[in-house]
Amino acid sequence: MGKRVGKAFPQQPIYSKRSYVSYTAAYKVRTRSGSTGIRAVYAIEVENLHKSYGSVKALSGLSFRVAPGEIYGLIGPNGAGKTTTLKILAGLLRPDRGCARIYGYDVVKQRVEALKFVGYVPENPVLFQNLTLEEFVVFVAALRGLRKEDIVDDLNHYLEIFDLRDKRNKLLSTLSRGMMQKALVIAALVVRPKVLILDEPMSGMDPESQYVFKEEIRKLTSKGVAIVISSHLLDMVEKLCTRVGIIHRGKMVAEGSVEEIKRMASAGTGGTLEEVFLKIVRGGQSP
Ligand SMILES: Nc1ncnc2c1ncn2[C@@H]1O[C@H](COP(=O)(O)OP(=O)(O)O)[C@@H](O)[C@H]1O
Ligand SMILES: [Mg+2]
Repeated sequence: MGKRVGKAFPQQPIYSKRSYVSYTAAYKVRTRSGSTGIRAVYAIEVENLHKSYGSVKALSGLSFRVAPGEIYGLIGPNGAGKTTTLKILAGLLRPDRGCARIYGYDVVKQRVEALKFVGYVPENPVLFQNLTLEEFVVFVAALRGLRKEDIVDDLNHYLEIFDLRDKRNKLLSTLSRGMMQKALVIAALVVRPKVLILDEPMSGMDPESQYVFKEEIRKLTSKGVAIVISSHLLDMVEKLCTRVGIIHRGKMVAEGSVEEIKRMASAGTGGTLEEVFLKIVRGGQSP
């Protein structure tokens, strides 16, 4: 892949004006007509990632791409490499080999530019227990150069819809697991990310909060936000995601829309994603 070139892609994505589909189509025409150095820039590009922890190989050549407006579900058994992948995308881990880009910016070499687009909900909350919920959200926003005034309307909105109004001035150490999870989600959303990286974001959330969260995710994607979500809740993934990648032992073993994956696994479209998942993972096949 070449470097970012000249005006090949605007500093800010223009998805508010055109749909992703017409945008990439425009790219293809320009490329075919002989322009050089122009390529489609995805919201998220993961290319041939390798990562080991000592002798444990967590990722062995993982690649996938996510376009603006897509909700990409990353699923796989425990230890498949989902969290490792998402930490690399969020700039928290360096890959041994391969690269990850956010809107064309390499998360290692152009970390600051890349991460400006990103909201991240980690799998294990590393929260500042002695901050209140509001202080925490304001702190996360400040790290992104946003002032309290910039985010307060969004903060009020999310506290309302996630039913956390009365927890606003409570210490994080006093919140339940599900409430903590919602606090992390709010902190990721108030920065108005163009790319949302969600690692098992619904763990501990009650059904009402899960519903609210899914609705919010759908709204964001309709505005062009790209989302990658890892989850064990296959039923949720099946209903929510536009595309799914099944990873196993650090490799992509199946990718496509839920319907496509079912067809690949010859499960028939009547099967559930869970059946397909088990078939692929247990069979160890790479369709
Ligand atoms: N910090 C770490 N040190 C050593 N091994 C790790 C570490 N983090 C993850 N691993 C190992 O890497 C593999 C992938 O883990 P992870 O990315 O957390 O998978 P998933 O999120 O799909 O469950 C597992 O075998 C796990 O035990
Ligand atoms: Mg994980």
